[in-house]
Order: sequence, then structure tokens, then C-alpha cells
Amino acid sequence: MGRRKIFAGNWKMYKTYSEALELVNGLKAGLKKTAGREYILFPPSPYLKDISALCVSTPFVTGAQNMYSENQGAFTGEISPLMVKDCGASFILIGHSERRHVFHETDEDVNRKVKAALAHGIEPLLCIGELLNERENGETVSVLKRQIHGAFSGIEKSAAEKVSIAYEPVWAIGTGKVATPEIAEKAHVSIRDIIKELYGEDLALSVPILYGGSVKPDNIAGLYKMNNIDGFLVGGASLEIKGFLEIINI
Ligand code: 13P
Repeated sequence: MGRRKIFAGNWKMYKTYSEALELVNGLKAGLKKTAGREYILFPPSPYLKDISALCVSTPFVTGAQNMYSENQGAFTGEISPLMVKDCGASFILIGHSERRHVFHETDEDVNRKVKAALAHGIEPLLCIGELLNERENGETVSVLKRQIHGAFSGIEKSAAEKVSIAYEPVWAIGTGKVATPEIAEKAHVSIRDIIKELYGEDLALSVPILYGGSVKPDNIAGLYKMNNIDGFLVGGASLEIKGFLEIINI
């Protein structure tokens, strides 16, 4: 079954402007495998417009790491969906664990952002995942359920079809503790079950579910083999040309 295959790099709050240009030029020069795959770069928003311009007519597209849900207004420091589009981005990360846990974004905030993105034709990459203590308490599935139900609240199936999901267990992000292929696969299957309850089997089988959390060139092979892992959302290892090329050329 032909689900979309998506490889994404989340640069977080790293790179100077010149380093960012060097990174994208290096990736463009070294990308080999393009058939049937999508590649998304999520640079810091001050660089979004220039990085998007550098990606035109390449297999790479861009996304913003965050945005506010209103079109405009007195919201100092925020960027709007209109601005994201104006910068040439076609994706938006929503609900990343750092947004949820460092900046206290709620499931309601996430839902508003998903709706705003869909209203503007920006593809949401919805991030979900449990904390270590939630996993240890056996709450992983209930956390994923709460996050998914929250994010998709009030969203019709025809719009929900535009959303991709990234499973990023919080205990694996930036820790070097990657989920085993079996742990990730099991969570991805649970996510499909939750989507099936909400929208039916066809959407559950077609939604791309990426894995994120300490993905590196030396641990990607086992994860890549799993049936329900449709790609990767990479943080630290996406900041380095050689390492990220090893990942995206797998
Ligand atoms: P790391 O790959 O650095 O663990 O980060 C994962 C992540 O948060 C991607 O969004």
C-alpha cells in the first residue's frame, strides 16, 4: 500500500544564517534518493523565506516550526499562517513536545493551530508523544488518544486527510535514547487504531506517521524496516550535512 514517505529535519533554534544556507546547499548537492519520497526542512522562521527560495525546483520543501492561529493582530512575537505561506512554506509543525512542555501549549492550542493551518492550505505535521513517566505508568496509549482527540476536535474527515503525524516520545527527544523499532511500531499501530475510531479504516491506513526522537544514521535502519513507520522527523542529526544525507539517502 502506497503511503507517503516523508523525511523531515527540524532545525529547532540552531544555526546562524550563513550556516543555514551552507546546510541547505550541502543537502541539495548530496541528495540521491528522490523517487516516491518527500523531504521537508523546518528552519528557524527568520530564514524561512530564503531557505524556501533555495528549495524551489528541488525535492525539498519547507515548513515553519510554529505559528499562531490568528491571521493577524496584536500578538507580539508570533507569526501567522499568512506569513508562513508568504515565506513559501507548505508545512507547519504543530504540537512539538518543546512547544507543549517548554511553552505550555495545550491540546486546545494545538487544535486551533491545526484548524488555522488547514484553513490556509498549509499541511500540518502534528507531533504527539508521551513523557517517560507516562510510559512507565502504562499511560502511553491514553496520552496519544488525548492528544489526537484534542488535535482533531471538530475537524471533518476531508480536512483531516491533509494532516500527517509524527510520533515523538518525549523521553527519546535529544536524549540519545531512541525508541526500539518494536516500541515505535507498537505506538504507530496504536495511533492508527485511534485514527480508525475517529475517521475510519481508510484514513487510518493512509495517514503518514513519522517517527522522531534521537534518529541517527546508525539507528535508522531497524526503524525504517517497520511496516507502520512512514518516515522520520529528525532534530540534532538534521543539523549536519553528512549525517542527514546518510539518513535521507537510506
Ligand atoms: P532529536 O532528533 O534531536 O532527538 O529531536 C527530535 C525532534 O524533536 C524532532 O522534532
